[in-house]
Amino acid sequence: MLEKLDQIQDEALHALQTISDEETLQSWRVTHTGRSSALMQVFSGLGKLSKEERPKVGQKANLVKIALETAFDERSKIVKQEALERSLEREHLDVTLPGRPVSKGRLHPATQTLRRILNILAEMGFQVFTSNELETDEYNFQFLNFPPDHPAREMQDSFYVEGNDRGDNPLLMRTHTSPGQIRAMRAAVATDPNNPPPIRIALPGMCFRYEQITARSEVQFNQVEGLAVGEKITFSDLKGTLSDFGRRMFGQDVRTRFRAQHFPFTEPSAEMDVECFVCGGKGCKVCKQAGWLEILGCGMVHPVVLQNGGYDPNLYTGFAFGMGIERQAMLRYKIEDIRYFWGNDIRFLEQF
Ligand code: DAH
Repeated sequence: MLEKLDQIQDEALHALQTISDEETLQSWRVTHTGRSSALMQVFSGLGKLSKEERPKVGQKANLVKIALETAFDERSKIVKQEALERSLEREHLDVTLPGRPVSKGRLHPATQTLRRILNILAEMGFQVFTSNELETDEYNFQFLNFPPDHPAREMQDSFYVEGNDRGDNPLLMRTHTSPGQIRAMRAAVATDPNNPPPIRIALPGMCFRYEQITARSEVQFNQVEGLAVGEKITFSDLKGTLSDFGRRMFGQDVRTRFRAQHFPFTEPSAEMDVECFVCGGKGCKVCKQAGWLEILGCGMVHPVVLQNGGYDPNLYTGFAFGMGIERQAMLRYKIEDIRYFWGNDIRFLEQF
C-alpha cells in the first residue's frame, strides 16, 4: 500500500510538470486529488486495513496529499505567470499611436456675442430678464405707444399667428425685445404696487420680422434691450451708461456720439454711434467711409410706456436701449453677410 502511494505521487507529479494551461491544470486537480482519485480511494479504504497498517498508510497518504497540493499551487503560479507573459507579448499596447481627435463643440457666434454683451451689462448692474417670443399686438406695439394704424409699424412687418379670433390684439412673433420692457415693469410693480422698485435689466432674445432676406436683413435675429427705471433718472445717465458700455465693448479709447432719432416708445430718442474701431475714425470699408458705426437705438422711456408698465410718469423716469446682436458680431468680425448666421455652414461657424 505504501508503495502504491509512492507510485500515485510519482505519477501525479510527473503529469503536473508538463502542464502549461489553466484548463489542463484544473482537470489534473480533479484526476489526482478529486473525490474519485486513486489517492482519495486510499483514504476511503483506510477502514478496511489492519490496526497496524492503518496509521502508517494514513500518515503517508496525508503527506502525499500535501505534496500534491503544494506542487499544484506552485505549478498554478507558473501557469498564470506564463499566461500573463504570453498575453503581454501578443496584445502589447502601442502608446506612441496618436489618439483620435475629439471634435469639440462651440457656441454659435451670435450666442458668443450675446453673452459678451450680457457680461458687460451685468458688470454695470443690469440683470437678465427673459420674456416671450410669442407676443400679443398690445405688448409688441400698443403698450409701446404704437397705435393700431401708426405708420411706425411699417418698419417692423410682422409674422402674425393665424387661426385666432382676437380682434385688434392678434398674436405675433415679437419684432423686437421692447415688449419685455412692459412685462418687466409689470412684474416689478406686482411685487410692491404702492412703491414699485427701481429696475435695471437686460432683455436678450430672438426677434422675427417679415422682411426680404438680404445681406443686411434676416427674418430672425437676436436683440438685447436695456431698461433702467427709477426716480430722477436723466438723459445724462443714459449717455454716461451707454458711452461706458461702448468703451467696455469696443475699447477704452473709443469715442461715442448720439444722433437724434424717433422711436414711438422713447422721448427724446437717439441712436448711438461708436468711432469705427477698424480705421479709428479715418474712414474705411467697414464704416463706409463715415468714421462712425451705428450701434444702438435709445431714449428716455415715453411717459405713456411708463404708465402702461404701471410706473407713475410724474414720479419716475427711465431710459431704454436696444441693439441687434448679429449686427455687433458683423462689425466686430467684419462679416459681410448676415445670412451666414442662420445658413448653418460649418465652414463659417468653425471660424469662431
Ligand atoms: N426696438 C427698437 C427696434 O427694434 C430698438 C430700440 C430703440 C429699443 C430704442 C429701445 C430704444 O429700447 O430705446 O428697432
